[in-house]
Amino acid sequence: MCLTYRSFAATAAVIVMSLVPCVAAAQNLKPVQLPAPRTEGGKPLMDVLKSRQSARVFSPDALPQQVLSNLLWAAFGVNRPDGRRTAPSARNWQEIDIYVVLPEGAYLYDAKSHALKPVVAGDHRAVTGTQAYVATAPVNLVYVADYARTGQAPPEERELFPPADAGCVAENAYLFCASEGLAVVVRGLIDRTALAKVLNLRADQKIILAQTIGFPKK
Ligand SMILES: Cc1cc2nc3c(=O)[nH]c(=O)nc-3n(C[C@H](O)[C@H](O)[C@H](O)COP(=O)(O)O)c2cc1C
Repeated sequence: MCLTYRSFAATAAVIVMSLVPCVAAAQNLKPVQLPAPRTEGGKPLMDVLKSRQSARVFSPDALPQQVLSNLLWAAFGVNRPDGRRTAPSARNWQEIDIYVVLPEGAYLYDAKSHALKPVVAGDHRAVTGTQAYVATAPVNLVYVADYARTGQAPPEERELFPPADAGCVAENAYLFCASEGLAVVVRGLIDRTALAKVLNLRADQKIILAQTIGFPKK
């Protein structure tokens, strides 16, 4: 009886000790107020279109916070006083959320406050895609459609519009990267079940695409 209790207590202690760092790590992931985006300059549009391309080799170096700020604003930031955004969205649903997966954890981009809200601590980059480079590139954006924002739209609109809206956001990010000389690729190859679990998504949130971004590898 005593032995059984002891082994139970020891096992419980091991479990608790192994959980403590996870809980602490989750608490350590703080909200990030991004610096105001720099919304002027960049290369001329036609030059950007000439160089827009996908890359699958990335330097592991982190993007400076100002670059991340500019990237997220370009992708789907607020660009007008009424809260509308840099990318169009069907019926102005604004149903695409950007999850920002960094080495220290995953965040949700809040466009209104231009801030990152903690979702889950830890390095979850590898689960954002099925290709090896996603695990080491510094930034993976995950485009999640929140169908709770699509209201009572007909099924055809609910099926077709969110992927189109995500594509608009991804193209904005492509153009920003082309202007800044960053490496980028949009991705559909994702284990959506595994990633949805990590990001704690609800059943009516669907992962549409992901996009990997970083400096080109020299
Ligand atoms: C909807 C969509 C899904 C894609 N999925 C992947 C992907 O999972 N992995 C990948 O390496 N590239 C992916 N790509 C990138 C395409 O392979 C790439 O755009 C295409 O080869 C043309 O190359 P370019 O972008 O340099 O013009 C995807 C592109 C789109 C538009």
